[in-house]
Amino acid sequence: MKKIVKLLVMTMFLLILAAGCSKKDSADTSLEDIIAKGNLILGLDDAFPPMGFKDDNQEIVGFDIDVAREVCKRMGVELKIQPISWDAKELELSTKNIDCIWNGMTYNEDRAKSMTLTMPYMKNTQVAVVLADSSINTLKDLAGKTVVIQNGSTASDAIDANKEFKDSLKDLVKVDDNVQALLDLKVSGSDAVVMDEVVARYYTEKEAGTYKVLDETLANEDYVVGFRKGDKSLCKEVEKHLKEMAADGTLAKISETWFGKDLTTVK
Ligand code: ARG
Repeated sequence: MKKIVKLLVMTMFLLILAAGCSKKDSADTSLEDIIAKGNLILGLDDAFPPMGFKDDNQEIVGFDIDVAREVCKRMGVELKIQPISWDAKELELSTKNIDCIWNGMTYNEDRAKSMTLTMPYMKNTQVAVVLADSSINTLKDLAGKTVVIQNGSTASDAIDANKEFKDSLKDLVKVDDNVQALLDLKVSGSDAVVMDEVVARYYTEKEAGTYKVLDETLANEDYVVGFRKGDKSLCKEVEKHLKEMAADGTLAKISETWFGKDLTTVK
């Protein structure tokens, strides 16, 4: 009997040792890997102005793009931009098609579990957008109406968190991107789009007189950058540059070009 116990203890000891070793094998080389390959592939849904979107020359531009380009410059690597479907972002990361998601991505607990996230860099709220000439002025006015949101976006979290509002709706429709959702508002039977305020404000200004943003908000959010789960050294390096860019005024400057004021929250 004693022998068996000894054997068991030995086996357990060996197993623990083996686990320790394999942990070493999967050590985090994320930063080294990026430096070695010389580029960082940024994944985005390119219909998300002004964070990242195609301009009239079909070039991808935006606040997040300018910030990422400066971070890459400081890291000595090239920024590569890869459009993806927002709903497939976690898959795109895990299959290594992209190295990060940097596109007005809101922090939430699920994402914190499936990715390695930076500190927040900007605040956002979820708002409802309706046509400017609509008689809808409050969230209550949306009772019995059809609301559109983007697939895989935190607009869905915001609606789930406001049960009364959710239950009052006739229909909740999901589409691939917000540009599509806003277009639908003009041409089809939907009544409102619940989306990021940062994007909604950009649209209401760009297409003056077409849309209005309701005053009440549905959720307060923080934007973060997402890396593959475990890519901590890469995440830390990006955070370091973001902090330096906050301190030397670069972040504020980039924010002013896109928003007319400094909306960044990095300290
Ligand atoms: N901030 C929201 C989220 O993280 C919406 C983002 C939606 N789309 C995008 N292209 N970034 O889900």
